[in-house]
Amino acid sequence: MAVDPASPDYCIGIIGAGTMGRGIAQIAVGGGIKIKLYDGFEGAARSGHEFVSRMVNRSAEKGNITQEEAVAAIARLEIIDSLEGLAGVNLVIEAVIEDLDIKKELFAKLEKIVAPDCILASNTSSLSVTAIAAGCENPGRVAGYHFFNPVPLLKVVEVIAGVLTDGWVCDALDKVARRCGHEPVRTQDSPGFLVNHAGRGFYTEGLRIAQEGIASFSDIDDVLRDGAAGFRMGPFELMDTTGLDVSGVVMESIYQQFYEEPRFRPVAFTRQRMAAGLFGRKSGRGYYVYEDNRKIAPDPKPAPDARPDSVWIDPAVPDGRASLVALLKDRIEIDDGAKPGARSVCIVTPLGKDATTAALDAGIEAERTVAVDTLLGLDKRRTLMTTPVTDPDLRDQVHGLLASDGVPVTVIHDSPGFIAQRVIAAIVNIGCEIAQQGIATPDDINKAVRLGLNYPKGPIEFGDSVGPARILTILQGLHDAYLDPRYRPSVWLSRRARLGVTLDTPEG
Ligand SMILES: NC(=O)c1ccc[n+]([C@@H]2O[C@H](COP(=O)([O-])OP(=O)(O)OC[C@H]3O[C@@H](n4cnc5c(N)ncnc54)[C@H](O)[C@@H]3O)[C@@H](O)[C@H]2O)c1
Repeated sequence: MAVDPASPDYCIGIIGAGTMGRGIAQIAVGGGIKIKLYDGFEGAARSGHEFVSRMVNRSAEKGNITQEEAVAAIARLEIIDSLEGLAGVNLVIEAVIEDLDIKKELFAKLEKIVAPDCILASNTSSLSVTAIAAGCENPGRVAGYHFFNPVPLLKVVEVIAGVLTDGWVCDALDKVARRCGHEPVRTQDSPGFLVNHAGRGFYTEGLRIAQEGIASFSDIDDVLRDGAAGFRMGPFELMDTTGLDVSGVVMESIYQQFYEEPRFRPVAFTRQRMAAGLFGRKSGRGYYVYEDNRKIAPDPKPAPDARPDSVWIDPAVPDGRASLVALLKDRIEIDDGAKPGARSVCIVTPLGKDATTAALDAGIEAERTVAVDTLLGLDKRRTLMTTPVTDPDLRDQVHGLLASDGVPVTVIHDSPGFIAQRVIAAIVNIGCEIAQQGIATPDDINKAVRLGLNYPKGPIEFGDSVGPARILTILQGLHDAYLDPRYRPSVWLSRRARLGVTLDTPEG
């Protein structure tokens, strides 16, 4: 009978005292758990101990814990100098170098040292947990336990069940996580596990928009960060922060591991930028240039002073029209004709359609049509889109009008779904497909993405807040425009949208 993780005597062995091992040790001693820390390289475990002590003492200095609690937490951390020292532990968390052969060999060795009911967990970020367990006599006790860096700040851990992992193992890992103040999310052993799988759409769709010349890197980032989508950083800022040498490799690897699933297809220019060494902050240049580690973004262009005489707003998307009318009615004459009058600039508010298609569908002249993204409201940064033949003077007039209350406007080229619609639809669609494949529950998908990636909402929550039917419309529009299976809606999404139920509705 395995020891209950709530027990005061519960003891964890951590192998590898690097970035991750020491972070895990820190939260575990804080949770009242005894730790035995081992590292294969001389001095590394000692340095890990010093680091954890420093962090715990700092926490006491800040008043987060008492001095007595700090002393007790540090006393729980013991350094050991051989693997044999792990003989009595209840759980081993391995955080050594990311190499399948090394991890397999280590786990096979551990099996001969620890008790039969000791759990063996790996903090691998990309290797198959099932493959690591394959070298063990009892693969049932092996699981993935994927923490994020920095461990004390990103309070989520993926509990990954390999094909042969026993249920009690994951239950115990959940309890240990909660004792350490972390939120466990359950996931099956699948490429990218949960967080790195669910986060793909943010990058791949951002890259696709840039590749097609719809908007610049900084315009895409501005819309996703400052607009109502509310991401902390845009995809290009994020890639520059992680480093394209890391995120580019992950992108390619996940695409390949899913047998070239088009939803995860990267773009060719990332490979070229990697070859050129444009990694981001660490190399001084990526999608942006960095001076003294400070991002140099292009200066925003001032909004034009021009205004149109009147605007005609397409009624095809009634909510879109209503929000634009509410915004503009006191600032400009709204042309209420069934068809636009001769003096009016035409505004369309499409979902998943480009400005060209919206103009043609409405039977209005593309030369005097612009499109505005109203999906997430108009309070934050606004996106204005042209057809290839829109008169630049008319575009500037609507730009001036939209910016006349001081809210910034991003002007982009024609795109089915602008920027935010496309990126959010991609994230929701991938989240729904994860639910459909039973890799994780909607609740865990949301939690993992909010806590692990700091998105303002999880994928399923995003879909429900926008409305499943709207997300479906956007994806269908993208699919019609590109004839690319990348945009095929997940059946999880399309069924729930057509049934009029929320995306967190489980399978009955
Ligand atoms: N750094 C991250 O952002 C991050 C995030 C999530 C998961 N991970 C995963 O966590 C694991 C550790 O990553 P890290 O960033 O902490 O690495 P790191 O290089 O900072 O630390 C690894 C430590 O393991 C020790 N080590 C290496 N081989 C060993 C062996 N055979 N036996 C004992 N000790 C050994 C090294 O001396 C080193 O101290 C990897 O599997 C990595 O993929 C890393």
